[in-house]
Amino acid sequence: MWLRCTSRRLLTSLRAPRQTRVNHASSWSSSVAAAVPEAAGFAGVTDRATLQDFSLAHGDRFWDAMARNRLTWTSAYSAVQDCDLRRGKVKWFVGGKLNVSVNCLDRHVLTCPDKVALIWERDEPGSQVKVTYRELLEMTCRLGNLLRRRGVKKGDCVTIYMPPCPLAVASMLACARIGAAHNVVFAGFSSDALAERIRDADSSTVITVNQGVRGGKTTDLKKTVDAAVDTCPNVRQVFVAMRTETPVAMSNRDVAMEEEMMQEDVVCEPAVMDSEDVLFMLYTSGSTGKPKGLVHTQAGYLLYASLTHKYVFDYHDGDVFGCVADIGWITGHSYCVYGPLANGGTTVVFESTPIYPNPGRYWEMVERLQINQFYGAPTAIRLLLKYGDQWVHKYDRSSLKTLGSVGEPINTEAWEWYHRVVGDGRCPIVDTWWQTETGGICIAPRPSDPDAEIVPGMAMRPFFGIKPVLLDNEGKELTSKSASGALCLARPWPGMARSIHNDHQRFIETYCQPFPGYFFTGDGANRTEEGHYQITGRLDDVINVSGHRIGTAEIEDVVNHCSAVAESAVIGYTHDIKGEGVYAFVVLKKDADITVAELRQQLKDRVSKSIAKYACPDVIQVAQRLPKTRSGKIMRRVLRKVVEKDLNSLGDLSTLDDPGAVQEIIQGHQALCNKPPVS
Ligand code: PRX
Repeated sequence: MWLRCTSRRLLTSLRAPRQTRVNHASSWSSSVAAAVPEAAGFAGVTDRATLQDFSLAHGDRFWDAMARNRLTWTSAYSAVQDCDLRRGKVKWFVGGKLNVSVNCLDRHVLTCPDKVALIWERDEPGSQVKVTYRELLEMTCRLGNLLRRRGVKKGDCVTIYMPPCPLAVASMLACARIGAAHNVVFAGFSSDALAERIRDADSSTVITVNQGVRGGKTTDLKKTVDAAVDTCPNVRQVFVAMRTETPVAMSNRDVAMEEEMMQEDVVCEPAVMDSEDVLFMLYTSGSTGKPKGLVHTQAGYLLYASLTHKYVFDYHDGDVFGCVADIGWITGHSYCVYGPLANGGTTVVFESTPIYPNPGRYWEMVERLQINQFYGAPTAIRLLLKYGDQWVHKYDRSSLKTLGSVGEPINTEAWEWYHRVVGDGRCPIVDTWWQTETGGICIAPRPSDPDAEIVPGMAMRPFFGIKPVLLDNEGKELTSKSASGALCLARPWPGMARSIHNDHQRFIETYCQPFPGYFFTGDGANRTEEGHYQITGRLDDVINVSGHRIGTAEIEDVVNHCSAVAESAVIGYTHDIKGEGVYAFVVLKKDADITVAELRQQLKDRVSKSIAKYACPDVIQVAQRLPKTRSGKIMRRVLRKVVEKDLNSLGDLSTLDDPGAVQEIIQGHQALCNKPPVS
């Protein structure tokens, strides 16, 4: 049975819902004060381009005005920021006190308790559940009280392994309410990957569901948690909610979450949190085998999520915001949960897939829920494009106002289709560039110059307060308008990650030291004559499969553990649906007795068990040896060129230990290309 809290008692004195609706057409074209009310009073700011300049020239004044206007504080901060990128020191709204769940729930319950906060778009179309602000607050409070009663304290970290659903959102907010940090792990990760994250985060409490439901299939998530927790001695309790009717075996450490929640009060005293207390950590892949738990804090993150949600998507009161990302990724955190709820909006939490029960799912949902802003990933757009326009045309999409894209570059064909077919040529597309590290959108066509042309496939313009720069290999800033280089951000901003959990030194080395004084994003970018940014992809050994980041070293670690494998090299290659696919070069041990089919099955099993299904190699090429430098380093650049069939620019091969290895790799690749594709 799925929990739907009923109101037992009103929390506070409630007023009637606010009636104000902003006129969309006029707000963006009228004065800047009307379009960005927080900016009223900034001298010399006459339009949004000058507001962008102001946000950089007078950063503290800009962020001070935003923080005062958009957040509800328990007590005021003493300084807007105290940052030094060179030393990896980032503090915003120093000494301020607030509670994030109060900002996302209570203050809206005061003005519009019956407004829908969240629409849970369940796997089966038409079975959506609407949760009002009052209901979500009550759910959060009951869960907050339960966590407290069960010993979770301020500063603890709770791991959440759940599919997108109201209780997952309430779990995040309940942690925020009592001052615990949350660590949401994408429910597609394997038990080994989950265990690694639970241990690294040092969680003693885990929240999960009996089963997940997606694309008409169920997955036994509780079983995955059991297997993970068996290797995590510090876990003392697992809260289990029931997504389906299927009973699960409950052990001594398991807590029947909904039953226990019903015994709790619907009022839960919010913890008073410092701006810089940890709100959550979220693991992402880096270029080593070990995922990093990026740490985000309270006030700066919330402010940035709220501001970008409002201005990048042109979100207005009364709109229905549909971000179809899973809550297990940063997009789900910032644009399913924190941004929309901080703004008192209505957010869609999507449990299904783009093609369930058919490729019209997104657009049927848009019609049924009257979604105004739709935010999705290019990989899904590329997939749907292949099914044809008829799946889109079947449904009324006239509610749509803005279309968003995130997670990877959107190719021109997908952009054009999204714009012309999905948006009927009338909705602006915002290609939003950002990262787990940045907390919120940093580069997107809006809002800095919304009247200007939007160029297909480009993130284009920095958000307020963001200063992108391009640097060359020597660390010199490229000052000419048109340039290509390493994308760095020259100013700290409130939404940025503060650290890597348990490893601040790695944070400094990864982001602050490569280009001292700048935040290094790990991405490369082009800048056009007009000053617009286009992201070209990762500069490190991280690949992007269907918008999911994965370090090639993480996959190699698993592949190398296979008993038949001597060594391996994993690279990304262009994949027409996933953006990048996983290509594994494998050298077998001399005495290995295994067929290629067996090897493929073994690697698939191992990678899905140790990481997740999406990280499984798409192509496996068995090689006699790998091209290496004389010092023994694998020349991945050469492997990439071979796979991309760019044999004329293999580059300098003079440091190769044995040039014959490259010829073998080329021949092996050509032989593979002539075979039927690997499933
Ligand atoms: O390479 C960039 C790519 O995704 C990386 C960040 O991945 P993650 O932390 O998982 O966050 C994804 C969702 C924000 C970036 O370093 N990326 C993200 N958005 C874009 C993009 N590449 C090109 N264009 C984008 N709009």
